[in-house]
Amino acid sequence: MALDLNNYIASIPDYPEKGIIFRDVTPLMADGEAYRQATDRIVQFAKDKGVEMVVCPEARGFIIGCPVAYELGVGFAPARKAGKLPRETVEAKYTLEYGTSALYMHKDAIKPGQKVLVVDDLLATGGTIGATIDLVNQLGGEVVGCAFIIELKALNGRERLKGFDTLALLEY
Ligand code: PRP
Ligand code: ADE
Repeated sequence: MALDLNNYIASIPDYPEKGIIFRDVTPLMADGEAYRQATDRIVQFAKDKGVEMVVCPEARGFIIGCPVAYELGVGFAPARKAGKLPRETVEAKYTLEYGTSALYMHKDAIKPGQKVLVVDDLLATGGTIGATIDLVNQLGGEVVGCAFIIELKALNGRERLKGFDTLALLEY
């Protein structure tokens, strides 16, 4: 039976700053059936897209992107924060709902022309996913879809995803 995944998201007011409602996916990951159903729904979305690689931004993206890659039987490449990747990288800077940052991928993380599914736990302003797509593009990959557990509608992250086939399992 399909679970209501809303029941597995914790909402914490004023974290990490006043005015932010933090949407915490860890209760969903803590429940084996909810975690499996969230993973399976993203896998179904991706199935006919010819995905060859899954790319996720650090760190919460990994939690959902890795089981998706495993189920699809394709590779996984991380987009990481500064100072984490030991070999030559490409860089993309971005702004967050709270703060600014940059993401990096190894230069050989994706082969030119590979079809890529980008996965993250949450879409807010779209800065993180925009930077991740930028990295994939710099490496010559083709983003064939974007998937999230949660989309925060009021922050308009979808604006950056025009033209990309995008799935969000839950909306707030
Ligand atoms: C969170 C979340 C998304 C991003 C969404 O990550 O996991 O990646 O913010 O926000 P945006 O759409 O406004 O860019 P965070 O940068 O807090 O890092 P973490 O995953 O390491 O906790
Ligand atoms: N990342 C950016 N905004 C967030 C929020 N409101 N809750 C959880 N993660 C986030």
